[in-house]
Amino acid sequence: MTRKAGVIGMGHVGSTVAYYMVTSGLVDDLVLIDSNELKVNADATDYQDAMANLNYHTNVTVNDYSALADADVVVSAVGKIDLQEDNEKHDRFVELPFTKHAVYEVAAKLKEVGFNGVLIDITNPCDVITSLYHEFTGLPYNQVLGTGTLLDSSRMRRAVAAELEVDPRSISGYNLGEHGNSQFTAWSTVRVLGEPVAEVAAKRGLDLAKLDEDARAGGYTVYHGKHYTNYGVASAAVRLAATVLSDAHTELPVSNYHEEYGTYLSYPAIVGRQGVVEKAHLSLTADEETKLQQSAYYIKTRYEDTLAELTNQQPNRISNTSLS
Ligand code: 2OP
Repeated sequence: MTRKAGVIGMGHVGSTVAYYMVTSGLVDDLVLIDSNELKVNADATDYQDAMANLNYHTNVTVNDYSALADADVVVSAVGKIDLQEDNEKHDRFVELPFTKHAVYEVAAKLKEVGFNGVLIDITNPCDVITSLYHEFTGLPYNQVLGTGTLLDSSRMRRAVAAELEVDPRSISGYNLGEHGNSQFTAWSTVRVLGEPVAEVAAKRGLDLAKLDEDARAGGYTVYHGKHYTNYGVASAAVRLAATVLSDAHTELPVSNYHEEYGTYLSYPAIVGRQGVVEKAHLSLTADEETKLQQSAYYIKTRYEDTLAELTNQQPNRISNTSLS
């Protein structure tokens, strides 16, 4: 059985995702979609130029949505990063005026060709766009995921690892909630050197508040140096795609739908060929639970407003004063 993926949006992020897939031999067939014909064809030729020096062969198709009908995984990397310019608030919602229309069009085309694989969203604001992809494709919740705080958790692991001079892979634990400003590091889930990080922090004088902010602001730290990010988020997306393709059943903190909160948000789930296979259950502290509920409320209300705007309906928001 051949493995097939699609990448929609060949900007800095999408072209890095595709390049990582080609150099790692993750798929046999790769479909690249972008409205900029010149760019996407140049990327395809560039990947093919690399093939003679790689250990893998990948069949590359350009701008053919019908080729996605039998794709196992499609990655949405549509975006307009220059909308971030002069954005002092460091808010990923600045791209929504563009991405809310893009997701409507992409979802309609995926639905039209009968795509029934796993859709991985990178497009920002990630949790709201992932929710809209579920709504507009009609795919079941488990088949629509976002990279979410899989990326932020890796930023947290990088920050803690640097302080302790260990490999980031030796840090376990999660950032939860929005892939954005309302996310937080659930320190009760973070372990290192065989101990809860709180105990290590006390011994080694770690400033957990600073490390939490370092993870949350990590995207903007990179952005201010090169006016986009790509390697961190592409690595998260390709790891997630590989987990789906190999039916690995790995626990990952991805943006997935939570009945309890009535919204997509990042929380650990077991991921396999069908997307979300099973949800994890964390024992969070009261403070962490409050932060998660507040993040969920932020995502849910922004999603409802955007959906209402796109479908010209009044938001049927249930006021939830306990979360306001
Ligand atoms: C990031 O934080 C693109 O939102 C993504 O790098």
